[in-house]
Amino acid sequence: MLVLLLATRVFAYDFAWGFGGSAYQTEGAWNVGGKEPGVFDTWYHTNFPNAANADVTTDQYHRYKDDLKLLPTFGATLYRFSVSWPRVMKGCSGEVNPEGIAFYSDMIDEIIKNGAVPFLTMYHWDLPQACFEQYRGWASDQIIPDFVKYADALFTAFGDGRVNYWLTINEAESGCKFGFQQGRLAPGLKNDTYQATIDCVKRNHLIHGAVVNLARSKYDATRKGWKFGFPSNVEWNEGPDAVSAEKRNLAYAAWYHDPLVFGDFQQDTISAFIDNKENLDAAGRAPPSFTDTEKASMKGTVDFIAMNYYSTAGIPVSQEDVPSGAGCPAYCWQHVWGQGARKMANWYYKRYNMDIIVTELGYAGVNEADMTLDQVVNDPNRLKFWQSHATALAQALEEDQVPVKGMLMWSLLDNFEWGYYDQKFGAVHVVGLGTSGGTLERVVKNSTRWLADYYRQKKYKN
Ligand code: NOJ
Repeated sequence: MLVLLLATRVFAYDFAWGFGGSAYQTEGAWNVGGKEPGVFDTWYHTNFPNAANADVTTDQYHRYKDDLKLLPTFGATLYRFSVSWPRVMKGCSGEVNPEGIAFYSDMIDEIIKNGAVPFLTMYHWDLPQACFEQYRGWASDQIIPDFVKYADALFTAFGDGRVNYWLTINEAESGCKFGFQQGRLAPGLKNDTYQATIDCVKRNHLIHGAVVNLARSKYDATRKGWKFGFPSNVEWNEGPDAVSAEKRNLAYAAWYHDPLVFGDFQQDTISAFIDNKENLDAAGRAPPSFTDTEKASMKGTVDFIAMNYYSTAGIPVSQEDVPSGAGCPAYCWQHVWGQGARKMANWYYKRYNMDIIVTELGYAGVNEADMTLDQVVNDPNRLKFWQSHATALAQALEEDQVPVKGMLMWSLLDNFEWGYYDQKFGAVHVVGLGTSGGTLERVVKNSTRWLADYYRQKKYKN
């Protein structure tokens, strides 16, 4: 009897898992099928002609059918991909490119054929070069109507029952900060203060609201059960000082989701924001404000909290599950502590009382330059990362009763990590990644086999 009860209890949890990726990082084929240049194509070709770029990367554009066949071999039932705006639209706000639409349409069919639910990201940083040339992209409000027009084209093409999960904009703050304030990534706009990031993220929020309202009014999204998310880059902030750690949680996590859940920032977010945001001069130390119409347009426009998680801040090295620096590349930045992800999920649930889907989670591994293939795919550090995080998420779900409904491992394949090929998050290694001479053969890593077994044994309902 007890056995039966326990089995029923475990079976009762709704949880599905799978993999993610993004267009620029994985597709290659940068000028194939009518695709126009995106800001990353221009950035690397013009400014860094001798550096690595994603012209080839994993060549998933030509190999997606085979790649997607991997999903059922792992028992994975979710797959996240992004549409490249410059692949499906001509110019910034012109007509659609039918070849680009046909490409994604077939990819979506293949995802479904392989037993998975498609999660479509509309924007994963590859802005059409045309939008940048016309009005500097995210630095201008003109992006708002153009993005909505693009989203409209996606709903028309893929909202026929095949795609029900829509992620509007990936990591708004990272995209804005790196590309439109610090100039570290394409298109490389530099601005002295964080205010540029704040203004840019505000446009992201407004666009998210506008896109969801369009879906609801024109495409009957609510009746169709479409779900919208806004994947946010967050770290759990652990001590040592609980008050300032909580302020950092608010200044980042709540900055993303307050407007889309409540319509505006809550008072605690506003004060945390003022205390925490970087590089603001005294006059600029204010969170963005919204008009009443804007507030109404954003309120209630996410259906779940989309959480991208990689690292926990403020834990001592002795507490880390894989010490940062242990065999890491020089710029290794992850502090691995699965309990941080569990705490973050608890924090989100307490604040917003909504389902949570972990839309990215992954480990970049160690420097593989001098390793054999066997050493690369036998990846003990990534295995520790997954043991720590999968267990912690299961605790959030089963012990804390937090509705973590899904997890998308970042990423299915090793890919182009925004400037580098030596930070490899993939579940699957790609031989000769990024080089036109490489075989680009796919080899499954041991940590992935462990993860697949872990979830098989869990027997969650998905
Ligand atoms: C977040 C971004 O969405 C993704 O593109 C990137 O590869 C991962 N973080 C890892 O840095």
